[in-house]
Amino acid sequence: MHGRTDASHIAIDARDVTLSLGAGDAQTRILKGVSLSIPRGESLAILGPSGSGKSSLMAILSGLERATSGEVTVAGIDFARMSEDALARARRGRIGIILQSFHLLPTMTALENVAVPLELAGIGDASGQAGTELEAVGLSHRLHHYPSQLSGGEQQRVAIARAVAPRPPILFADEPTGNLDSRTSEAIVDVLFDRRSAADATLVMITHDLALARRCDRIVEMRDGEIVSDGRP
Ligand SMILES: Nc1ncnc2c1ncn2[C@@H]1O[C@H](COP(=O)(O)OP(=O)(O)O)[C@@H](O)[C@H]1O
Ligand SMILES: [Mg+2]
Repeated sequence: MHGRTDASHIAIDARDVTLSLGAGDAQTRILKGVSLSIPRGESLAILGPSGSGKSSLMAILSGLERATSGEVTVAGIDFARMSEDALARARRGRIGIILQSFHLLPTMTALENVAVPLELAGIGDASGQAGTELEAVGLSHRLHHYPSQLSGGEQQRVAIARAVAPRPPILFADEPTGNLDSRTSEAIVDVLFDRRSAADATLVMITHDLALARRCDRIVEMRDGEIVSDGRP
């Protein structure tokens, strides 16, 4: 992709992305040429069986991992040609990530967990703003609790508040309800969509759950390292 004609309308543009791990005979092709263009503001669900490459694709689109080949442009930035350090800097403030297992810092309270990315973004009143974000996900009564003192659903609310707090234009969620029961899952997806609207962010959500996927504008299905379908729910 050399043209920049539509760059302002496109949040994520991936062209012919491949990912191979290992070398020689032990080499595994994990992504086999994935192309995907995601307009700004879209919510996109990625469905597919376990091992089909969903998390690997998300790692590349979110700048956590580099593609073996192909073009990756995210928020107008060429991720494919960046050093690891530059990628880490580019992610900050642009990309929020929510994972299945929450990944909160265990030695920090809910408030501190949410304040960290705000401090990194140079926000003056990080702690005050973190409190506001936690209130928005219904946790004003849990500010000073540690992750181990919170339920799974509460921990995921903290993770959502943390991801959304710096107002990144792009949010990624990898099976955000994978460790939650179905009633809690629905509530968490409500919170995720609500905060995503508040931030006006593009959302890419990996899920096993077709009902959750149907809440997105668009569903992409992966199989064996490739996109096999792409359409409206
Ligand atoms: N670090 C790794 N080394 C070797 N193989 C891996 C690694 N990470 C993922 N894989 C393999 O890549 C394939 C896709 O994995 P993944 O992207 O996690 O799929 P999904 O998220 O759809 O379950 C799987 O076959 C998995 O075993
Ligand atoms: Mg996965």
